Amino acid sequence: MDLFEYQARDLFEKHGVPVLAAAIATTPDQAEAAARAIGGKVVVKAQVKVGGRGKAGGVKLALDSASAREHASAILGMDIKGHEVRTVMIAAAAPIESEYYLAILLDRSNRTFLVMASVAGGMDIEEVAHTAPEKLAKIPVSAVDGISVAKAKEIVSAAQFPHDVADQVSDVLLKLWELFQSEDATLVEVNPLVKTTDGTIIALDGKITLDDNAQFRQPDHASLIDHAATNALEAAAAQKDLNYVKLDGQVGIIGNGAGLVMSTLDVVAYAGKKYGGIRPANFLDIGGGASAQVMADGLSIILGDADVKSVFVNVFGGITSCDAVATGIVQALELLGPKATKPIVVRLDGNNVVAGRAILAQAAHPLIEQAQTMDGAANRAAELATK
Ligand SMILES: Nc1ncnc2c1ncn2[C@@H]1O[C@H](COP(=O)(O)OP(=O)(O)OP(=O)(O)O)[C@@H](O)[C@H]1O
Ligand SMILES: [Mg+2]
Repeated sequence: MDLFEYQARDLFEKHGVPVLAAAIATTPDQAEAAARAIGGKVVVKAQVKVGGRGKAGGVKLALDSASAREHASAILGMDIKGHEVRTVMIAAAAPIESEYYLAILLDRSNRTFLVMASVAGGMDIEEVAHTAPEKLAKIPVSAVDGISVAKAKEIVSAAQFPHDVADQVSDVLLKLWELFQSEDATLVEVNPLVKTTDGTIIALDGKITLDDNAQFRQPDHASLIDHAATNALEAAAAQKDLNYVKLDGQVGIIGNGAGLVMSTLDVVAYAGKKYGGIRPANFLDIGGGASAQVMADGLSIILGDADVKSVFVNVFGGITSCDAVATGIVQALELLGPKATKPIVVRLDGNNVVAGRAILAQAAHPLIEQAQTMDGAANRAAELATK
């Protein structure tokens, strides 16, 4: 789960990382009141889970509460890269002298953690990483040793932080590491970490990603979930215990086993290129032992998606035999009745495939079309999606 900046800021504060006074607002009135309470100059910042807010006009300096109100009314409702701004954060404005960058992340490919640090922080850090990679220090951190005082100093000197802020930056690193571990994060990023004109180090913008696999031991994190942004179909699927992720294409996908579903997404995307970029509309793994009810639940979620133009059911019979799946599909269509309206390409293979195909052939449902191979089915489903 990615957090909003204000949620990251609160976790920073909880773990002793220096931050400025801030409050959130969902109306211009609230923004004005928050700015008045903070006093002096403030910044009004769009809260969306996407980078580049500043460049999109989503971060504005306000000299007083009246202008904070104006900025808030301009920023609230703004669309930033497809994300609607529903909340702004009002934060005290810092007198910035320098902007730095610090991040701790899980480096999966190297099976370690990684710290990235740079004295060239701010809005163009991606550009720096690209054009002047030597300005971005990358230091692996082992899960066993973590970030000790000595390691923090090593990072600070590798990134060439100025001497006058070295101790403060080390201290921030230790606290970020503590946060990273105890909150089960996979990413903690501060950009910018600033030095103010009086030499104080402050985290002005934060991005945190929490590890959803650790949810069971982080009950407090439930309150951080942004329910308003949860896709309605995904919420309905979660209620039925289905492993469903909405994607942005046109071919609904149902398969058994996550690996098979992943490859199904790939073959559909590949086949779809021939038809003007047809793509998978979702990921849905109905797992082993797919009963008629699970198949019906899955189909009804997918058919309820207005973006779906055709459906591809891809099943490899293993423990669950193809005849059971075929019966499930037929029964599911009976359960759905007139709610089933889109063509369904079914590819069955594996355990008891002959019997499975015979059941579908005999049912002769007008929406069902069988395909012998996965590629053939993907191709047909993509073609049907254009009609
Ligand atoms: N509290 C603040 N006081 C003064 N200046 C600020 C403050 N917050 C942000 N800024 C300035 O605005 C710039 C952009 O802010 P911020 O980093 O929060 O957004 P962003 O980088 O555009 O967004 P994102 O990190 O989502 O890409 C900062 O680099 C900093 O110069
Ligand atoms: Mg930033």
